[in-house]
Amino acid sequence: MTNLKAVPGPSTRAVHAGTSGPHAHNAIVQPVVQSATYTFADTQDLTQHQQATLLGQAGDRVDYGRYGNATVAEVERRLAALEGSAECVLFASGMAAVTTTLLALLGSGAHIVITDDSYRRTRQFCLTFLNRFGVETSVVAAADVGALAAAIRPNTRMLVSESPTNPYLRCLDLNAFAALGRKHNIYTLIDSTFATPLNCRPLEHGVDLVIHSATKYLGGHNDLLAGALCASAQLTGIVRQLQFLLGGVLDPQQAFLLGRGLKTLALRVQRQNENGQRVAEFLAAHPAVERVWYPGLPTHPDHKTARAQMRGYGGVVSFEVRGDLAAASRVVDRVKIPLIAPSLGGVESLIEQPALMSFFELDTAERLAVGIKDNLIRLALGIEDTADLIADLQQALASN
Ligand SMILES: Cc1ncc(COP(=O)(O)O)c(C=O)c1O
Repeated sequence: MTNLKAVPGPSTRAVHAGTSGPHAHNAIVQPVVQSATYTFADTQDLTQHQQATLLGQAGDRVDYGRYGNATVAEVERRLAALEGSAECVLFASGMAAVTTTLLALLGSGAHIVITDDSYRRTRQFCLTFLNRFGVETSVVAAADVGALAAAIRPNTRMLVSESPTNPYLRCLDLNAFAALGRKHNIYTLIDSTFATPLNCRPLEHGVDLVIHSATKYLGGHNDLLAGALCASAQLTGIVRQLQFLLGGVLDPQQAFLLGRGLKTLALRVQRQNENGQRVAEFLAAHPAVERVWYPGLPTHPDHKTARAQMRGYGGVVSFEVRGDLAAASRVVDRVKIPLIAPSLGGVESLIEQPALMSFFELDTAERLAVGIKDNLIRLALGIEDTADLIADLQQALASN
């Protein structure tokens, strides 16, 4: 980190942290180091590098692209500084971060507990794929530390949750979660994609592992896929070794875009927090809306927990309209600014009905069994002007 005070603020870190001295050609930004392999001047240069690598003293220099990249490494350091972790490992997607981390830290005979109302693919990976390799998974209610505690067995190795969750924005008491893990000597993992390090930093509460789908807020422009693990050097070291084998590394072009996106993270999240709060309040007062799920509203079941551990509540607002699946579709079809698409956290507002997006292959009864109502809409707010977004929702809800 160059020219920074002892404890720079998050926006300063988002712009400057992780920069390692002057870049090639004195470029202000780290160039895209687009190379699959790296050369050595002679055998002595090679053996010195190998020795330095063994001692962990090779810096950003590597011999091959799967073992590192200078563009990727700089973004890793910046994200670690934002999340408050010793290290960060970037991956080709959020799912690569989730799967590589779980595979690296779990083995046959282990048991894990995961909360419901989490990203469906993460649960699917645990319940189907890990199960084939002798790892058992229990699913318990989101935001319920008591339920997590009750599910712990002698062979439990990890507790996994999102906070806030998807799509109901349930918030877990992170102090209690981390304490539970410590008491039983079990890893605690939080998928903090919905929070971002601007709104919440789970490691400060004692959580061991933080994962992000960097595709969302961190990249912030709906134009890249990436994932991140932030944790101690010991844990990231174990995970990185498996990443070298599995190969889900981040491409330098994507890392460049992610690093560029990160620089405006604080500004974007500030606007998205404002949009989230104002839109949630508007929807809560609208007669065509049955229920709003937003942790910044006192009516949300986890408002107190969120207030205690979050600096803002994010840009995702889920709400149930009065009526059925078709009534919700009418609202989705009438809005003009939010675009119909999965994902969240980018500058463009996105809207979707979970019943018709992530849960399409399930019928209504199966969807209800996993808590997904037909009249539920997930609105992922971007950075557009709040008044425009509210006016748009007003016209979309007016005749419902
Ligand atoms: C909370 C959460 N975790 C993980 C993922 C997976 O990330 P990616 O799509 O970058 O693989 C997603 C994606 O939607 C998500 O919402």
